[in-house]
Amino acid sequence: MPDKYQNLLDGNMKWVENTMKFSPDFFKKLAEGQHPEFLWIGCSDSRVPAEEITNTLPGSIFVQRNIANMVVHTDTNLLSVVYYAVKVLKVKHIIVCGHYGCGGVLAAMTNNNFGFLDNWLLNIKDVYRIHCKELDAIKDEKTRGERFVELNVLEQVNNLAKVSFIQEEWENGEFPYIHGWVYHIDDGVIHNLELTTNSAKKLNPVYRYESNKVKK
Ligand code: CO
Repeated sequence: MPDKYQNLLDGNMKWVENTMKFSPDFFKKLAEGQHPEFLWIGCSDSRVPAEEITNTLPGSIFVQRNIANMVVHTDTNLLSVVYYAVKVLKVKHIIVCGHYGCGGVLAAMTNNNFGFLDNWLLNIKDVYRIHCKELDAIKDEKTRGERFVELNVLEQVNNLAKVSFIQEEWENGEFPYIHGWVYHIDDGVIHNLELTTNSAKKLNPVYRYESNKVKK
């Protein structure tokens, strides 16, 4: 029975062959363990695969993806990934990568009912509420959607900075740096939003945790 899913398995065998041709030790080395320097928090959108668009190989990036690259503090899946990346893998950089034309972000901008998805989209609507003055002032819908994508990345960078175990890392050193990027689906280029941070200083004081270190 011809089925497209078989193409995936055939594709895998081709990929193994090609990889072995160029780097016979590739899988042997990977099997020894992972030491990625990057954690990627991206959108589940099939057009934004972390490794391909950054021209990196397996082993380079620890990845978490969900609809609209959200950092939700009740999401134990995401927080476990972040915790492992920061505390065990000791990644040096966390990248929140949004993308223009993000279906999740654009859906959150509407008043349409998306059923169960509405519960997730509420987190994105909260971002709209924080920035509604700026966003409401943008009359062109496409431009407003693009700015919303950028502001959503900004708020997810902030949400990471609000995590107490990340603040704890910053007490002990400079890492991890948190970055905010937006990917252009129409030309493949990543736009750096220059949001890089490794401190909680820019957050409202209510989000800054006191040190648990014993004062000498
Ligand atoms: Co998206």
